[in-house]
Amino acid sequence: MLIRRTPDHPIRSSEITSESDYENRRQFLKEAGLLGLGLAGVAAASRSAGAAAVTAQQGTSIGGAELKPELTPWEDVTTYNNFYEFGTSKEDPAENAKNFKTKPWTVKVEGLVAKPATYNVDDFLKPYKMEERIARHRCVEAWSMVIPWLGFPMADFVKQMQPLGSAKYVEFTTLLDPKQMPGQRSPVLQWPYVEALRLDEAMNPLAFLAVGVYGKMLPNQNGAPLRHVVPWKYGFKGCKSIVKIRFTDTMPRTAWNVSNPGEYGFFGNVNPEVDHPRWSQAKERRIGEFRKRDSLMFNGYAQQVASMYSGMDLRKLY
Ligand code: MTE
Repeated sequence: MLIRRTPDHPIRSSEITSESDYENRRQFLKEAGLLGLGLAGVAAASRSAGAAAVTAQQGTSIGGAELKPELTPWEDVTTYNNFYEFGTSKEDPAENAKNFKTKPWTVKVEGLVAKPATYNVDDFLKPYKMEERIARHRCVEAWSMVIPWLGFPMADFVKQMQPLGSAKYVEFTTLLDPKQMPGQRSPVLQWPYVEALRLDEAMNPLAFLAVGVYGKMLPNQNGAPLRHVVPWKYGFKGCKSIVKIRFTDTMPRTAWNVSNPGEYGFFGNVNPEVDHPRWSQAKERRIGEFRKRDSLMFNGYAQQVASMYSGMDLRKLY
């Protein structure tokens, strides 16, 4: 997955892509109507059983690999989802989340922060004028596996909340509402769904909170109205429909880790060298493609994120 950013982002796009790719990206964003937003993350996503791997490919050169963009229909992004609250098969969320109510929506921020409070999700968006801008944008036929996310840097959010010196982790919790979410009526996971990041991961410029995709507000099945996206991790790390964000000094237990600790660790970093117990992670197949591709370490973002894990045994801390 390649995150492409607007020029005002702290990481200059030229550090991520070549200058010519950067210009192509400007053209893409212009056509997509995304230029000028606080952040537009363009992500390439591929899915594998259980957890979608977000992959680093986007018609550019990352980690030495020449990669070509593919076309992904909007249809695939919005009908092939993991959102167990709405059912366990990939088609369930699009069908069962149709009437999911996401307005009004509040997010409770608690724990080791100077600014604990319950915020209206629109408050987060005001500085970016997302709603207005998105309303004007047409839906874009974006590239396959290349998802033009709309969102804002998670670091912005974290800084605003002013974590205390003792805060080490940020935990995200999905809404618990079995009336609206039929999947929560069965114990397929421990509800509510919880995900977490280490504070330095949450502060990394690549991590963001997403509110839209393809120039529109997020469809319900993709985690409306607020989800997080962490480009160098497997898809399961991206908590959807967030209602609570907690800062803590203790490593939180996360939904997949609780349900199957032998298969899902806390970190969930894309790592082709460490196999999932039931399948190899060295290669991945993208939607619509027959041939498998090599997975890249940290999804191709090693340069930006590897230093956060230096000295850690990534075979044990997967
Ligand atoms: N968030 C919640 N609340 N419930 C879920 O079941 N599934 C995770 C993640 N976030 C999940 C979730 C998994 S396994 C994946 S692969 C991604 O969401 C899928 O996101 P997508 O459907 O938008 O691709």
